Amino acid sequence: MIDLAKLFASPKAVLAPIAGYSDVGFRQLCARSGAAVTYTEMISAKGLVYGSVKTEDLLHTTEYERVKAVQIFGREPEIMLAAARHRALAEFDVIDINMGCPVPKIVGNGEGSALLKEPQTAAKIVRTLTQCGRAVTVKFRIGFEKNSRTGVDFAKIMQDAGAAAITVHGRTREQYYAGEADREYIARVVEAVDIPVIANGDVDSAESYRDMLRVTGAAAVMIARGALGAPWLFSDICGSPRLWSTRREAAEEHISVMLKFHSPVYVAANMKKHLAYYVRGMRGGKQFKQDVFGSDGIDALLTAIAESEAMNAPL
Ligand SMILES: Cc1cc2nc3c(=O)[nH]c(=O)nc-3n(C[C@H](O)[C@H](O)[C@H](O)COP(=O)(O)O)c2cc1C
Repeated sequence: MIDLAKLFASPKAVLAPIAGYSDVGFRQLCARSGAAVTYTEMISAKGLVYGSVKTEDLLHTTEYERVKAVQIFGREPEIMLAAARHRALAEFDVIDINMGCPVPKIVGNGEGSALLKEPQTAAKIVRTLTQCGRAVTVKFRIGFEKNSRTGVDFAKIMQDAGAAAITVHGRTREQYYAGEADREYIARVVEAVDIPVIANGDVDSAESYRDMLRVTGAAAVMIARGALGAPWLFSDICGSPRLWSTRREAAEEHISVMLKFHSPVYVAANMKKHLAYYVRGMRGGKQFKQDVFGSDGIDALLTAIAESEAMNAPL
C-alpha cells in the first residue's frame, strides 16, 4: 500500500478531482508537469457496481501518472467497498471519498457534503473501505452551514476511522465557490490530526502555493481551477522548465492522449471546454472560442487550434 505520509514528507502539489475536466489527457499533462498525485473526477460507486459504461470511460490512466487516485461518491458502505474492489479500479493507488460536493442532486441523496452532517455514517464508510487494501482518503469542506465549522472534529473522526490522508477545501457547503478559502481554519485542522492534510482552495500560482503551505502547514496542496487550461502550473510550482512552448503544443498532446482512449467524436466534444480555459484572458481568445464552439469534428478543432493566434503565442 502506498505510504502517503512518506510521499508528502516534503510538500507537494496535486491535481484535484474536477468533474468534466480531470480526464486522462489532462491528468497526464499535469503529472508530466510535476503533479505528485492525480485524481479522477468523482465516480458514482453505484454507477460502477451496476455497470454503467460511461463511468468506466472516466477511469483510463497513463503510466505518466505518478500516484493514481480515484474519487468515488456514495453513501452505502458495502456498495462503496464493492466499487473499490471493481476491476476498473485495480490500478489506482488511492481511493478518495467525496464528502465535499455541494450540488443539490448529490446532497439530496445524502452523498458528497451531506456526509459532513452524518459523521458516523462517514466514519463507517471509511472503516469499511479500508478493507480494500488501498490507501483510503477523504476530501471534504470545512463545514456544511456557513456559520458552523465542523471540519476539525470531522477530520479527527476520519483519522480515527482509518483515513490515510484528508483533503480540506477551505469553504463550507453553503459557500459553494464564493468568498475566499479559509486558510486559517485549514491550519487548525492540520494542528488537530497526525495524518497528512492536503490544503485546497484558490491556489493558482507558485506564489499562492507557497503561501498556502506557509499559512496552513499542510503536507500538500490540491489545485483545481488554477490548473484548468494551465497544466504547466505544476512545473512553475516545482521550479522546472515548462514542457511546452505554446498552448497549442499542450493542447495537441492533450488531444493525442485522449484519442488513444476515446472516439474522435467524444474527444472533440470534451476538448471544447478545456480549450476555452486554455485561452482564458488571451488576446484573440474570444474569436478562438467562437471558432471552437462552432467547429464540427476533431479535424476542424485541430485546424482552429493551428490557426489561432492565442494558441500559438509563446507561453
Ligand atoms: C467544474 C468543477 C468540478 C469539480 N468537480 C469535483 C469533483 O468531481 N470532486 C471533488 O471532490 N471536487 C470537485 N470540485 C471541487 C475542486 O476539486 C476544488 O475542491 C475546488 O474547486 C476548490 O479548489 P480550487 O480553488 O483550486 O479550484 C470541482 C470544482 C469545479 C470548479
